[in-house]
Amino acid sequence: MWAGKKILLGITGGIAAYKSIHLARLFVKAGAEVQVVLTPSARDFVTPLSLSALTGRPVYTDTFEPESGQWNNHVELGLWADVMVIAPATANTLSKMANGLCDNLLLATYLSARCPIFFAPAMDLDMYAHPAVQQNIARLQSFGNYLIDAEVGPLASGLEGKGRMAEPEHIFQHIEQFFAAKSSLAKKKVLINGGPTYEYIDPVRFIGNHSSGDTAVFLAWEAHKRGAEVTLVLGPTRYKNDIFPFTVKHVTSALEMLDVFLPLSADSDIVICSAAVADYRPKVTFQQKIKKNEQNLLIELEKNPDILATLGKRKKENQVLIGFALETENQIENARKKLINKNVDAIVLNSPSQATGFSTPTNQVSVLFKDGTTATSQLVLKEKLASWLWDMFLKSLHL
Ligand code: C5P
Repeated sequence: MWAGKKILLGITGGIAAYKSIHLARLFVKAGAEVQVVLTPSARDFVTPLSLSALTGRPVYTDTFEPESGQWNNHVELGLWADVMVIAPATANTLSKMANGLCDNLLLATYLSARCPIFFAPAMDLDMYAHPAVQQNIARLQSFGNYLIDAEVGPLASGLEGKGRMAEPEHIFQHIEQFFAAKSSLAKKKVLINGGPTYEYIDPVRFIGNHSSGDTAVFLAWEAHKRGAEVTLVLGPTRYKNDIFPFTVKHVTSALEMLDVFLPLSADSDIVICSAAVADYRPKVTFQQKIKKNEQNLLIELEKNPDILATLGKRKKENQVLIGFALETENQIENARKKLINKNVDAIVLNSPSQATGFSTPTNQVSVLFKDGTTATSQLVLKEKLASWLWDMFLKSLHL
């Protein structure tokens, strides 16, 4: 897994910098190529010579090296790397990263890097706990950078608490887990549907539901991060104008969703139906807005096709099909019936409550597998749930 991986190791000026020599060694020993970039003050703690001897590459500090006349191209460095790891990341560098400041090569490289970025803060405990530092860390996380949290123990100041840079072995494991997860769905074609469907009664009224589509979007993101080729088919949601790094098709009604979804499913390895498809549609859609009058209005509804059940009937031997179920009574029993009747490999069961279900940011689910096993998640943000669900699918369905 490590062979040929390109690691850009950024070292900033903190006492923990000496541990980064060991970190560089761990990466090299595993088979990775390591390019070190030091901030000017990191040179007070570690020498470029020991790092270049270990990595077999020159160590860069400045954009321009006056002695050799060499220009170190930060854009090239940022494009070269598979991941960038900034360890230790001092309070000073964290603040600059969070605010787009760019007064050294490491920061210029950080700003131009397109690869995933990990940062391992190291500082005194009170500095670490300061709201300014915590806000900077949260800001970096909101940019999609990955925090490798500081650890608790004796600090250079003589105090004891949280602020030590994570041990090199722990940083190494973090990156290893990231690479492992990233490749777990490599070369798999994943097809997901999500959101509600709208069944129009007339040009302005429809039958619909409150499904946000969030779970489907997070499942798609997570599959993409793990290396899958993803297609997401979404009913009407707030994601209409969002740009995603995978294919997204927008549909409105159940019939449209079926039309788009069915052909795509033919050559998909894993299909997940999380859409809250309307079970019925009006038999007639009026061309003009229905006028009110003195009488009651009867709208005749006809049954929509069940997309999941249709796919279950056509399921190929090596294809994995996963459905969702929202139950209010006899939940496990009803979900298991669905699992069998619709011929699916797993059913994700959720129950509507204040904290779970349709339009909440959190959810708690149970997954029922064909082999009779069940797994239950914690109540977590839907983003985290998506990662948990993929871990479960991979483990229990032997993907
Ligand atoms: O039978 P029930 O609607 O409870 O089953 C829910 C599962 O079936 C979900 O995975 C949902 O996406 C799917 N479904 C479907 N087409 C329908 C209704 C539900 O694909 N018309």
